Amino acid sequence: MSGEGVSFLGEPLPFSEYIELPNWRHRHVGIEAYREFWRRSVENHEDFWASVAREIEWFSPWEKVLEKGEHPHVYRWFVGGKINISYLCLDKHVRGWRKNKLALIWEGEPVDGKGEPREVRKFTYYELWREINKIAYMLKELGIKRGDKVALYMPMIPELPMMLLALARLGAIFTVIFSGFSAENLAIRINDLGASLLVTADGFYRRGRLINLKEVADKALESTPSIERVIVVKRAGNEVRMKQGRDLWLHEELAKTPAAAYVEPERMNSDDILYVLYTSGTTGKPKGIIHDHGGYAVLLNATMKWIFDIRDDDIYFCVADIGWVTGHSYIVFGPMIAGATLVMYEGSLDYPEPDRWWAMIERYGVSVFYTTPTAVRMLMRFGEEPVKKHNLSTLRIIHSVGEPINPSAWRWLYEVVGDSRCPVGSTWWMTETGGIMISHAPGLMLVPLKPGTNGMPLPGVDADVVDENGEPVKPGERGLLVIKKPWPGMPAPPTGMWGEPERYRQVYFEKIKDRGFFFSGDYAVKDGDGYIWVAGRADEVLKVAGHRIGTYELESALVSHKAVAEAAVAGVPDEVKGEVPIAYVVLKEGYKPGPEIAEELKRWVKESFGPIAVPSNVFFVSKLPKTRSGKIMRRLVKAVAVGKPLGDVTTLEDEAAVEEVRQAYEEFTKALRGQKT
Ligand code: WT7
Repeated sequence: MSGEGVSFLGEPLPFSEYIELPNWRHRHVGIEAYREFWRRSVENHEDFWASVAREIEWFSPWEKVLEKGEHPHVYRWFVGGKINISYLCLDKHVRGWRKNKLALIWEGEPVDGKGEPREVRKFTYYELWREINKIAYMLKELGIKRGDKVALYMPMIPELPMMLLALARLGAIFTVIFSGFSAENLAIRINDLGASLLVTADGFYRRGRLINLKEVADKALESTPSIERVIVVKRAGNEVRMKQGRDLWLHEELAKTPAAAYVEPERMNSDDILYVLYTSGTTGKPKGIIHDHGGYAVLLNATMKWIFDIRDDDIYFCVADIGWVTGHSYIVFGPMIAGATLVMYEGSLDYPEPDRWWAMIERYGVSVFYTTPTAVRMLMRFGEEPVKKHNLSTLRIIHSVGEPINPSAWRWLYEVVGDSRCPVGSTWWMTETGGIMISHAPGLMLVPLKPGTNGMPLPGVDADVVDENGEPVKPGERGLLVIKKPWPGMPAPPTGMWGEPERYRQVYFEKIKDRGFFFSGDYAVKDGDGYIWVAGRADEVLKVAGHRIGTYELESALVSHKAVAEAAVAGVPDEVKGEVPIAYVVLKEGYKPGPEIAEELKRWVKESFGPIAVPSNVFFVSKLPKTRSGKIMRRLVKAVAVGKPLGDVTTLEDEAAVEEVRQAYEEFTKALRGQKT
């Protein structure tokens, strides 16, 4: 079967291009053999996951593998088991031979813009363990205990993973807010969680420019009544305001702790909350996805082995930010459970030069590299020279994540970066899944690669592409990507989504009725071999440079501007970022459309939401297409934005009559005529 008619970013999907790697022959299996192994794993998925769970250390074993929780579709994994993920990441290694192994190599943003001098900090597992015990001790002295809620708003400095591990050790519940988010976004998350402590930093540099993080935090703190204390890490040395009785410098507090501080890791229940991470949905405020200690650790430990084939001589580099789930799972917890040596960096991929990553891979001898399609598409533009001037021969495995990778970007990674020697995969998962679900698994058994595919569901993961009734669609047909059975690492008890059990049920389990399937929100195609090709979101969620943004959130940001009466946002394809938002705006009486106000609105989104979501275009219209009941016809807006014919829309529109939609479409396109740039 071919991928004709199925394309992504204008490129046909090569369903039957099989690439086998000579030096991975020992791990190669036929597609049938993999499928058979997979079939057995999902048929007995509790037994399967139990055997996987035995590979990590439990304080005491579970009594039951899987049990229904008190809310619909919420499950408890490894019930009765006692565990602490911080113990797995640190104490386990410190007690064994990895004690003096390098755990973390951190490289700061080159401060002079030329690459030198470059600040590098390195920690062995033992050194990290000591630091984290001190931090945990200090937090305890400040009264932080099991079950307390803490927000982290920090740049990519070593203190961030340290905080995650120290809080996990205490059994406190933390939430990380991406350092590029606005004060408003920070406040929303702090308030939803009800955090009593915020940890932040004075500032940091990005592309040579100082970002005054504390100033943003201070603005958020004007409307976060639950926060009692703020701990500030000194990073940039910029002037900050410290509020007496509330704000404390981390280094000053740490100076008060004994050098030999030790804090016993809390004996957590397997299904106790480790963290809450907010992510965007289609409507309303961000959703706080809950992850636990036990099931999450099991999934991470397994995927580090299966997908990254992690070994003790590997140097592992994941380019994500810890503000997103990739950073939680595959910068901090996964690699550290695996006892890997981890490379972490501050700054951006092309500053000071477009070879920043390639230079780092060479400098530290990176062997396992986890990157993103947007970054690849951006770096491709600089040509091969920045890559080729570095020796990347240490690389042995490359994966990407965050959005679909188009075949040409895949080929570039495979050929130019990986020298046609390394398995290159596109790992599909999401904030909700906790860890990777669909991927090539070179560390387990490797089926042939295909440019741009996600590969097969992992063992124990019952993922499939189905129609609205939950029935599998035919190979080559587009359907909905679901996970049919619970998996360790799934949204955890008590409610899956922080404080919103009903919303949890409704968002993920209502689309396909009465089957209990978790619906990811993605469209996907399964080819004749059973490989999955995720095609993008099926809902009102955007993926801008891999960042997940709800159109609704952007619309709210726009209408909070005094000149805006109404707004509708849609994603349009973009060569580099995959997708970018464009906005249709109805101005209030007395405001005139024009380039100035368009720029002003872009600036407004940047400040009130964050720079990652600024619309590439703002179009002014006199009204938005709406159904009789007053809902914006979202699919119509989207169809107009991407220049799709109306035919694709009418059948999809939920409420409106065909004629009504057609009329609205015409009015809307007429209103736009002459505005396209
Ligand atoms: C959404 C989840 C998982 C960590 C980062 C994103 C898209 C993610 C892939 C991939 C195609 C992908 C999906 C998914 N996505 N990885 N390899 N191929 N699409 O986590 O922010 O929760 O976003 O990212 O659309 O639903 P997230």
